[in-house]
Amino acid sequence: MRNNCFTYIICCFLLIHFSCTTQVKVSKDEIIEQKVDSLLKLMTLEEKIGQMSQIRHFEANVDEDVSAKFIGSIIHTQGPNPGETALDWQNRFIVLQKKALSTRLGIPMLFAVDAVHGQNTFNGATIFPHNIGLGATQNEKLVEEIAKITAIESQATGFNWVFSPCVAIPFNEKWGRVYEAFSESTELTEKLTKASIKGHQGNLEDSNTVLATAKHFIGDGATDFGIEGGETSLSAKEINQILLAPYKVAVKENVGAIMASFNTVSGISMHANKALITDTLKVGLNFKGIVVSDWQGYSRFGKNDIINAGVDVVMAVDGNLVGFQEGLREGVKDSTVSMVRIDDAVKRILRQKYRLGLFENPFPDPSLIAKIGSKEHRAVAKQAVRESLVLLKNKNNVLPLSKETKKIVVVGEHANNSGLQSGGWTINWQGSYENYKGATTILDGIKKLSKGEVVYDQEASQNHFDADIAIIVVGETPYAEFMGDIGHESNQLQLTLSETHQKYIKTYQEKGVKTVVVLVSGRPLVVTDQIEKSDAFVAAWLLGSEGDGVAEVLFGASNFLGKLPHSWPKSVEDFKGKYGPNFWDKSIEPLFPIGFGLKH
Ligand code: BGC
Repeated sequence: MRNNCFTYIICCFLLIHFSCTTQVKVSKDEIIEQKVDSLLKLMTLEEKIGQMSQIRHFEANVDEDVSAKFIGSIIHTQGPNPGETALDWQNRFIVLQKKALSTRLGIPMLFAVDAVHGQNTFNGATIFPHNIGLGATQNEKLVEEIAKITAIESQATGFNWVFSPCVAIPFNEKWGRVYEAFSESTELTEKLTKASIKGHQGNLEDSNTVLATAKHFIGDGATDFGIEGGETSLSAKEINQILLAPYKVAVKENVGAIMASFNTVSGISMHANKALITDTLKVGLNFKGIVVSDWQGYSRFGKNDIINAGVDVVMAVDGNLVGFQEGLREGVKDSTVSMVRIDDAVKRILRQKYRLGLFENPFPDPSLIAKIGSKEHRAVAKQAVRESLVLLKNKNNVLPLSKETKKIVVVGEHANNSGLQSGGWTINWQGSYENYKGATTILDGIKKLSKGEVVYDQEASQNHFDADIAIIVVGETPYAEFMGDIGHESNQLQLTLSETHQKYIKTYQEKGVKTVVVLVSGRPLVVTDQIEKSDAFVAAWLLGSEGDGVAEVLFGASNFLGKLPHSWPKSVEDFKGKYGPNFWDKSIEPLFPIGFGLKH
């Protein structure tokens, strides 16, 4: 009897326990779906089209448009206006958010920013190495931590959505966005994509997490000859095997959004590619988030074709809003766009807004402002710099340098300019050529650590040939997107170092001064000759705000931990085909294989 009674009590307990836990688990998502459905039922077509519209916050009439046109999200790309503080930004977005909340249904807006290596649009934020440098660290914990900090600093400046991470697999170093991607290795990209999304999104409800965006779907980095927005002529099988894997990971991590790419696949614009966006991504991978267009995607890539292909939010920037809203309205009227498609798009947008907790907490948190560029955040950025440096040569153990070295000459404008050391997407879209707030340069770090004399010979013209060591910092000037494509008419970029920078190295090397070359670049360059001529050679990528981290490793505070995230080309000829050596012709030997990196 007692036994029966005991069994009965245990059974009841288990039943209650399991039904409770299952209920809680299922109900969270279910409640969101119910809320989405109920809200959707109340919405007019105008309100639905509004949710699908994204505009810039400084366009003409923005304040009126937000409420009159039911705008769903705001995008920010560069800034700030001089003198504006984080609180000014928050206040500006609060004004806009209140306008959205004052509409009939009061649906809050998303505020999106291109925070691709920290909240890089805010002067004074912590700026991390670009993704190529994070690829060199191979450190997923660190990448997660960096994404967490980026989310905090983005929220602190008023944003709840970031257009990051770029999960491209670059096939050709001529592409101007190689540095935005982690690596040419699919496996490494998968690992770091997962970490990045986890870090940005956390549980999404906290006021210091943001929606992440995996971009650019799909084939952005694999275009023929590395042309931004060009043709990706891979087979469906290759796309599946090499390029889709990071998106699978992103979807598994519940990424909030995925951005469509500028390139074409089999001649079809990716924005209008229904087979890949709807069939592969939304149906095949069961992606429940938002597909967002890229810049002016609607007018550039087929208007309602992109909506029918599965794009949910349109970057209707720079005067594109009226054309988009009218065009879509017409499409619904003449039944070339179905209401089912519109409803699917709006459901996806509302779902993410509920996941973020935006209906309960639509405003940014002013208490986060104190964290922007904080000591703790910079310490993580510096760790990333230290772990990202790849040592390619170290003849006679010239590194680590002794702090007691009598005289060090530091050469090159990149040694003393935090703008140059950070690359594109820093303060401005195309980057900056000036020092920015809170950053240290490589020269700052060398001066701080050295106990001997340190002289700066910016252009290798002062003949400090009595120096014991020359630290020569050379590299690329900042660029972003197509402006960084090698071979593009807009620039003079090349796969080799400029004549001037080659001369910096030669000047000191020919006089017998021991030379340590530090290369600041967004991709591996052909520097076979310069490596040959130098005593030590370090690939430092685009390192962000903590330049003194480079000096610390040169002086041996820690060992070199970075491993090449790309195979390193030995000659310009290696790129005469469609792609780089690793993808095009396996018989071409790179100078260094992917994964290479010495220790001192
Ligand atoms: C880029 C995207 C970026 C967007 C918004 C586009 O030109 O391709 O990566 O997120 O602009 O600034």
